[in-house]
Amino acid sequence: MNQFTFSYPTKVYFGKGAAAEALKQELPRTGKTVMLAYGGNSLKKNGIYDELKGILLQAGKEVVDFSGIMPNPTYAKVQEGARLAAERHVDFILAAGGGSVIDCCKVISAQAGLEEDIWDMEYKAGKFPAGGIPMGAVVTASGTGAEMNSGAVITYEEKLWKGPIVGTAASFAVLDPFYTASVPPIQVLSGAFDTLSHAMETYLGNSDQDNVSDDVALAIMRNTVENMRRLFADINDMQARGNLMWDSAMAENGILKAGRLTDFQTHQIEHQLGAYTDCNHGQGLAVIQPVYYRHIVKDAQDKFTRFAKEVFGADTAEEGLDALEAFIKEAGLPVKLSELKSKVEITPEILRKVADTCNIIQCNPRKLDREEIYQILCECL
Ligand code: NZQ
Ligand code: ZN
Repeated sequence: MNQFTFSYPTKVYFGKGAAAEALKQELPRTGKTVMLAYGGNSLKKNGIYDELKGILLQAGKEVVDFSGIMPNPTYAKVQEGARLAAERHVDFILAAGGGSVIDCCKVISAQAGLEEDIWDMEYKAGKFPAGGIPMGAVVTASGTGAEMNSGAVITYEEKLWKGPIVGTAASFAVLDPFYTASVPPIQVLSGAFDTLSHAMETYLGNSDQDNVSDDVALAIMRNTVENMRRLFADINDMQARGNLMWDSAMAENGILKAGRLTDFQTHQIEHQLGAYTDCNHGQGLAVIQPVYYRHIVKDAQDKFTRFAKEVFGADTAEEGLDALEAFIKEAGLPVKLSELKSKVEITPEILRKVADTCNIIQCNPRKLDREEIYQILCECL
């Protein structure tokens, strides 16, 4: 194990009815003005908005609505929310949604109390926020694990950039699998694939092999595959959704990363692809990940072989990758960039820009250069 420091800022309330229980415990500790932040219309349709707002009002809170947080949340939306939070003297933010809503709120929380622009602060001055408006996260679409960390992924449209901004971690998270009941099946499976990708990308960082975190990562991968398969048979299997919800949180709460380096090259490529195309995160990963792995399989043969055996019951590293590809197809997720919903046509010129602007990871099995990233992307067409 490498040296590490680990602490947990987020209290988790898991299971059916968890929101009511969490808010009963937590609201007495928050100030009076609560921003209830959410995305499009889904939470109004499925009743979650009414339920949360009712609990807040009953607890005597003044509720400030902040709606319309889009998938792949933009920096402009962060700034809009931060202005509203500052103007209305918001004491607490309740983020209700998937990774996009939660991420947007993490940065709203940090930006609202700052004089300076948070992107400039982090990327030009190299400083990070020390605090922010306290927040809680109610997960309504699972997969990113955003509810248990302080990192947000934001699209800065003017800069054609999608990447991490450090914000505020939620002090509590609500994980009720029944809150995900109305998520469209393709989003349920895209989210679950994101979880699988987080565990794989963590496992493939080039640390030593003798690491308890790898054993945990492999267990999360196995469990994610097993429960996604249960959803292929019955998308409404709430036991499976619950397992996947906890897999998701576990994959991104730092447990798997303890004592090791991580890869996350697929994520870096996908995020920049998202900056140009606004594609769905989990689906972008599903297209890129197997192609990237074919490029690096020889550089981490033993790790890929272990992955093959323990996650897919396959004998060799290459057969493990065949099984991963077959699994993605079985999930009905895209395997080609042309299958992704995109705001622009995905051309080799766009892919060149993605390759030229994405982050290059230093601690994966083999560091890629921009030409190879471009080749990988072209192989995804
Ligand atoms: O906007 P509404 O109408 O709510 O619809 C949303 C959205 O269209 C819908 N949805 C959410 N809850 C629902 C529901 N539909 C029906 N019933 C419900 N209960 O789901 C759609 C997708 O939501 P979104 O939040 O965009 O999905 P996801 O959770 O996959 O989040 C993706 C974002 O998280 C970032 C991604 O890059 C992307 O921007 N990530 C964040 C990470 C983190 N902070 O740790 C790590 C990840 O690697 C990832 O990069
Ligand atoms: Zn992800």
